[in-house]
Amino acid sequence: MTLHEITAIQETALAALAVAESADVVEQIRIQYLGRNGTLPALMKSLGAVSPEDRAAIGKATNALRTAIEEGIAAKKTTFDTMASRDGVALPSVDFSLPGRWHTVGTPHPISSVIEEVVRIFSRLGFTVADGPDIETNFNNFVALNTADHHPSRDPSDTFWLTDDLLLRTQTSPIQIRAMLANKKPPVRIVTPGRCYRRDTTDATHSANFHQIEGLYVDTVPISLADLKSTLAYFAREMMGPDVKVRFRPHFFPFTEPSVEVDFSCHICHGKGCRVCKMSGWIEILGAGMVDPRVYAKVGYPSDVYGYAFGMGVERIAMIKYGITDIRLLYENDVRYLTQFA
Ligand code: DAH
Repeated sequence: MTLHEITAIQETALAALAVAESADVVEQIRIQYLGRNGTLPALMKSLGAVSPEDRAAIGKATNALRTAIEEGIAAKKTTFDTMASRDGVALPSVDFSLPGRWHTVGTPHPISSVIEEVVRIFSRLGFTVADGPDIETNFNNFVALNTADHHPSRDPSDTFWLTDDLLLRTQTSPIQIRAMLANKKPPVRIVTPGRCYRRDTTDATHSANFHQIEGLYVDTVPISLADLKSTLAYFAREMMGPDVKVRFRPHFFPFTEPSVEVDFSCHICHGKGCRVCKMSGWIEILGAGMVDPRVYAKVGYPSDVYGYAFGMGVERIAMIKYGITDIRLLYENDVRYLTQFA
């Protein structure tokens, strides 16, 4: 046994540890050198045969060898502990060559975006959001809104009736009724986004299920058609751009008198005429009017209140604003289509 041999054993042992790729291999090395029948115990035993003058040096070197191998094993174990191991094979805990993990971030649906934007614009004018159920009563959806018994919208071919008295609301207008019944003391100033239902055959511009936003402002101070017009003109500019103009056309709704249909000047051609506005320069956006006194009577309001109401189709606005050509694209939930409105 020479110092030279001990150094050689140490080099071999540490080299084996350096390339060990698993805890199993390290354990085999430990058994080989430090185990009961391993190299180190054999070396200790053979110390007796070493000449007395060399014994101290060889003994010291043997102890140093043991320490070196023990430390080498401990260091290797620490490395493995910080690594993931698969099938007993050590792997670095981070593989920088792997692609990163993608977190898909959702985007607002165009319908939600339009609702949010409309609500934001009207909230600046003091309107708050009111809500109502999708299943409505005949009273709220038709009767209180002064809709005649023979009005075509009441027909079962137009409306989803659930019972003689209950239906899927055909418009958000019944929320006007709910808001006034709930607040006996005007002012009432609300916008009401919501889902509506009609027995429409689905095509590029119709869906049996769609959204409206209703607006209602009732007060004890005189409000006129001019207030309605200026409010909607403000809305038009905020929604479509600063140059957009508003046009009122006479119309009929049972719950407003006078009633108007409201057009915005075409935001694409600025009124010159293009495909989007069908060469007219105007785009029909909403219905509106001064609340009919017969509606006030139905909700128990005094006859000397004043108010206007308006209602718009959310899908229609989304289609105009984002250039969507088919309403069905809004409901197919094809993420590839919808993410472009992010
Ligand atoms: N509810 C009407 C519809 O669905 C839209 C509407 C028109 C609402 C005039 C109003 C209004 O509040 O004043 O066609």
